[in-house]
Amino acid sequence: MCGIVGYVGYREAYPILIKGLHRLEYRGYDSAGLALVNGAGELNVHKCRGKVADLERFTEAKDISGHIGIAHTRWATHGAPNDVNAHPHYSESGSIALIHNGIIENYSVLKDALIQNGYTFKSSTDTEVLVQLIEYVKATNHCSLFEAVQSALKQVVGAYAIAVVEKGNQDEIIAARKSSPMVIGIGEGEYFLASDATPIVEYTDRVVYVNDGEIAVINRNQPLKVVSFDNVESQIDIRKLEMSISQLEKGGYPHFMLKEIHEQPRTIVDCIRGRISPNGDDVVLSGVIANKDKFLQARRIIFVACGTSWHAALIGEHLIEDMCRIPVEVEYASEFRYRNPVIEPGDVVVAVSQSGETADTLAAVELARAQGAFIFGICNVVGSSIARATDSGAYIHVGPEIGVASTKAFTGQVTVMTMIALTLAKEKGTISSERFAEVARGLLELPAKLEKVLGLDEEIRDLSKIFTYARNFIYLGRGYNYPAALEGALKLKEISYIHAEGYPAAEMKHGPIALIDSEMPVVVIATPDNIYEKTVSNIQEIKARGGKIIAVVAEGDTVVRGIADYCIEVPVAVECLMPLVASVPLQLLAYYIAVNKGRDVDQPRNLAKSVTVE
Ligand code: M6R
Repeated sequence: MCGIVGYVGYREAYPILIKGLHRLEYRGYDSAGLALVNGAGELNVHKCRGKVADLERFTEAKDISGHIGIAHTRWATHGAPNDVNAHPHYSESGSIALIHNGIIENYSVLKDALIQNGYTFKSSTDTEVLVQLIEYVKATNHCSLFEAVQSALKQVVGAYAIAVVEKGNQDEIIAARKSSPMVIGIGEGEYFLASDATPIVEYTDRVVYVNDGEIAVINRNQPLKVVSFDNVESQIDIRKLEMSISQLEKGGYPHFMLKEIHEQPRTIVDCIRGRISPNGDDVVLSGVIANKDKFLQARRIIFVACGTSWHAALIGEHLIEDMCRIPVEVEYASEFRYRNPVIEPGDVVVAVSQSGETADTLAAVELARAQGAFIFGICNVVGSSIARATDSGAYIHVGPEIGVASTKAFTGQVTVMTMIALTLAKEKGTISSERFAEVARGLLELPAKLEKVLGLDEEIRDLSKIFTYARNFIYLGRGYNYPAALEGALKLKEISYIHAEGYPAAEMKHGPIALIDSEMPVVVIATPDNIYEKTVSNIQEIKARGGKIIAVVAEGDTVVRGIADYCIEVPVAVECLMPLVASVPLQLLAYYIAVNKGRDVDQPRNLAKSVTVE
């Protein structure tokens, strides 16, 4: 979603802002812009519809000088993606410029009031209202920009991360956040500002995460000052950024998504490092051990998540119920937050989120907290809002995921959930030592198995060519593999724009089988498990109706090979780890079909990497 970059210091701001916007492109956006205060104190705003490269062309003959500036990529919410609605927005007099991530919910009331006071509006955004309001407050109260922002925000209902600069002030950016992330990088005589750390990492590893309800005064001549909306000064908590530039680059791959698919053997190693003993007889997840009583006494565990993270949670449900005999529910965070759910003290809520910034998941966490649940987070982005809003948690440690389609985060999430289930089952005594060791060793062996699957890259690329022009796809799986089927379908639809649905294989005959004809490719995960024969019967039913079957099978399988049109053979793992193995060829299949169709794989249309609005 929208991205924010800011700089104030001794260097030219423009190249830093543009590079920062490029780093944020992965979030998804439809227009870009920036505001700079030049050496004469003039405020120059440049913005246009399109990509950051379009903005660079647009600014070619313009004044882009200045040591202070703010920049933005916009993902349209209020108002079409066009030049006028792009950020920064500037005030009536042209003296204040503002960028904003989030939504101002009461913008129409504020707008009416401002119109009555003579203000006019150029755009159809909620954001323009805020910059006008700040100017109005500043003019009527004769106060500083900081005081005007602080006072204006008290009138605002909604979610926001904002950055504001002012004509004539070459030293200071005012920034604030509520329910939308913001991080400040601290350099020597310079500051960087961004909606996530990716634009900052090449300049400094010293960062401060702005908390909800805080305003930062970022002045190049002064130490960073952060205060609450009620003017209580906050302690500055400088953290070390654990991220490297190479993680943010494609490393020779044509797309981040392909790089991230191929990184999975290594990211699983990173995810389990130090957590599983070498012989597989112990698993240590400190966040779970420290709170084991809460988990073991839980009436039930409720997973809240969206998208791919929700699919991972479905596997988590299966793992925990199977190994630990604790009831588990899996909820779409967006539904959970609005449906007055029954949550009681003693319930454990597990929030799953790659970005740690998904607005619905964050809201579900807040709701669960208000009702007394213990909240555990499974996040990737260190220091993200959800990671900080939870009582405890386990990071998946798969490194920055830039491709909008989640791949390595999914396998990392399922790996962490497997370790959680093992830890709890051992504590509870619901798993035999043999099974514990089998699964734990299975995790240790997983990177090598994924490496083997990735060796199928070329074979899957060839296979993909047969299906480039398919209009629909069905994905089937049962048991642990059902969520992997859902995930395979999601991958295909989001990057290729081909309609795809995932179903539990046996559910087909209750309706979806009517869709089957010779035009319908059906991807079936048919790896060995206790219902393998039943899955084979489901494949027969599809075959009998002319469907084209692409089966993911175990190496050496002869039964399905005799029925399916195409087979992808993967190494066998313990049943509960098979979705991790089976999901990788489906990621590759989706990737290559999308590439064949010429899609923008890393930034598919209409999608955002972290969905920070509801
Ligand atoms: O960052 P999160 O895991 O909370 O994101 C949740 C979904 O928005 C995300 O998984 C989305 O479905 C991806 N585009 C899937 O590839």
